[in-house]
Amino acid sequence: MRQGKPMDILDAAFVAGATKLGQLPAPAFAEVAFAGRSNVGKSTLINRMVARKRLVRTSGRPGCTRAINVFRVTTREVTLDFVDLPGYGYARRSKAERASWGPLIEGFLQYRPGLRAVVVIVDVRRGLQEDDYQLLEFINTTPATPIVVATKVDKLPKSKMKSELMKLTRDTGLDVCGCSGETGAGREDLWARLLKASSLVQRDA
Ligand code: GTP
Ligand code: MG
Repeated sequence: MRQGKPMDILDAAFVAGATKLGQLPAPAFAEVAFAGRSNVGKSTLINRMVARKRLVRTSGRPGCTRAINVFRVTTREVTLDFVDLPGYGYARRSKAERASWGPLIEGFLQYRPGLRAVVVIVDVRRGLQEDDYQLLEFINTTPATPIVVATKVDKLPKSKMKSELMKLTRDTGLDVCGCSGETGAGREDLWARLLKASSLVQRDA
């Protein structure tokens, strides 16, 4: 989609972490949230988007991100906040802890007036699970634009990629973006999509 130079990041910094909605700072910039099942690669993808290796903590252990974490990102053209949401669907958490995440994620999506887009990340090898569909349905009740990303495309043989992405596009009715937090594939495409969804126009697009 986006041609030419890779998106330049002038600054990316942690702003706040919260385990309750009330702990979040008031919205200051347009926000883009990153959501998906536990361990799908949300934090790795954010690091890739902001071109920082370790701004966001990642882990081989599922369920690493338990809080809502906000990062302020400045490009040459815009400043916006990236929001790393806790992963859902991790069975080994206690029931009470799992039950507390739905309201936290849904509450964020519902009551954050600056929220423009939600990037729903799925593993390209696994596709959409029931809870991903539920999340997409929920996003449809909010003003935010859903963007579906199939990540870890580096794990898929090139020959299979096109058909898997087409299948996901069919399943969701949305134009699914293939990405890899590991290799950076799809990064510029996702930047273009989230700026468009946020109504933050790129001057050089
Ligand atoms: P939680 O915060 O626990 O919900 O996980 P997360 O969705 O933030 O996943 P995270 O970014 O921590 O990555 C989980 C694991 O997947 C780590 O071992 C990453 O190195 C690996 N991983 C993430 N993205 C990719 C990718 O695009 N390709 C490959 N091969 N591995 C990836
Ligand atoms: Mg994480």
